[in-house]
Amino acid sequence: MHDFQYRGNELFCEEVPVRGIAEIVGTPLYLYSLNTLENHFRAFQNAFSGIDHLICFSVKANSNISILRIFIRMEGGVDVVSGGELFRSMKAGASPNKIVYSGVGKREDEIEYALELPILMFNIESTQELVLIDRIAGRMKTKAPIALRVNPDVDPKTHPYISTGLKKNKFGINIQKSLDDYRLAHTLPNVKVIGVSCHIGSQLTEVGPFVEAMQRIRELVLGLRAEGMPVQYIDIGGGLGITYHQEEPPHPRDYARALMEELKEIDCTLILEPGRVIVGNAGILVTRVLYTKEGEEKNFIVVDGAMNDLIRPSLYGSYQRIQPVRRSDRPEWTADVVGPICESSDFLARDRKLSKAEQGDLLAVMSAGAYGFSMSSNYNSRPRVAEVLVAKDKFFVIRQREDYDDLIRGEVIPDFLKE
Ligand code: LLP
Repeated sequence: MHDFQYRGNELFCEEVPVRGIAEIVGTPLYLYSLNTLENHFRAFQNAFSGIDHLICFSVKANSNISILRIFIRMEGGVDVVSGGELFRSMKAGASPNKIVYSGVGKREDEIEYALELPILMFNIESTQELVLIDRIAGRMKTKAPIALRVNPDVDPKTHPYISTGLKKNKFGINIQKSLDDYRLAHTLPNVKVIGVSCHIGSQLTEVGPFVEAMQRIRELVLGLRAEGMPVQYIDIGGGLGITYHQEEPPHPRDYARALMEELKEIDCTLILEPGRVIVGNAGILVTRVLYTKEGEEKNFIVVDGAMNDLIRPSLYGSYQRIQPVRRSDRPEWTADVVGPICESSDFLARDRKLSKAEQGDLLAVMSAGAYGFSMSSNYNSRPRVAEVLVAKDKFFVIRQREDYDDLIRGEVIPDFLKE
């Protein structure tokens, strides 16, 4: 359930008409509902209340510091994958001891930054990274708390670009081989083995693959404990899917029940790194129709939002529901919804049946709260759009629309070119 509903024919976000916001803030814009965000986070927390746990929101899904702040205020932690995400999380007021740091390519300066805070745990993805972290921690006269991110070789049955737990993926350390790395870690003077982590993929719509991964991790944890490594944290990553179109993902309650079942006899703290399931359906992209074109083979609705604002349809061919901000009784029309960018892959929807759009109409691209703004770019020198948070009958601009000066910030013309 989310808070983007029609009242009469007008789409509202909580108690505010979307049209009113678009008129003041301009389009395109991302719009989030505080109530939906809080409800989703709470549902996740409640689902795991039967077990010692920490929910580390995956910053990459939506990294606006106000959004992060919402979950931090609810006692959440964060999952980061870069120094930049670490910086954002600290600006949002995250407790360092609730931060986990994943990612295959951590740089030395990023590792130092995390060790200075210090964070709860590094999820290490290679032997070389393990050795480097030990060296840096030694230099800083500290001990780095670590988990190895293991790759359980489970098929998540999702889009190949967002599946991460297979042998052929670049992520993690093969679960069998990880035992050698754990033994190595145990001998290193400046790291402390405290966990096992994994993340098998994103937008999963079944619990089976999670359960399979958890079973393999459980065995590993028992093995490590038997060798004298007191593993306390099991980090199962993120990945629970949402409904974009007709998917029927499990409710967090059922997901939690299935995972907790596997952990019954293991005393541990479970870490979760949900992203999409918390923010995906809590945000929309509002865009305005610039032109409509009737082609011989296809019709087009040209809108002011584009692939630089929301890249998921272009990159993954993914489906985003599109709804009019004001419903009408105009006849249905099948069209591609496309943006102004000079690429044929610049579309938000293809062959979509919608009530016939007219110039100036507002459209809502639904389920855009996750991997929407956070994957946006300035391609075609398009300023990145505004982000707005609605709380009941009020709205707040939580990120201003960029202007043309923002586009060239940091660019320099060398003297010799000025002549
Ligand atoms: N933890 C780790 C280590 C991850 O790599 C990810 C996502 C998550 C947690 C959060 O996963 P979630 O709960 O959001 O599924 N851009 C793609 C999704 C890429 C996901 C990458 N990793 C998309 O728009 O579908």
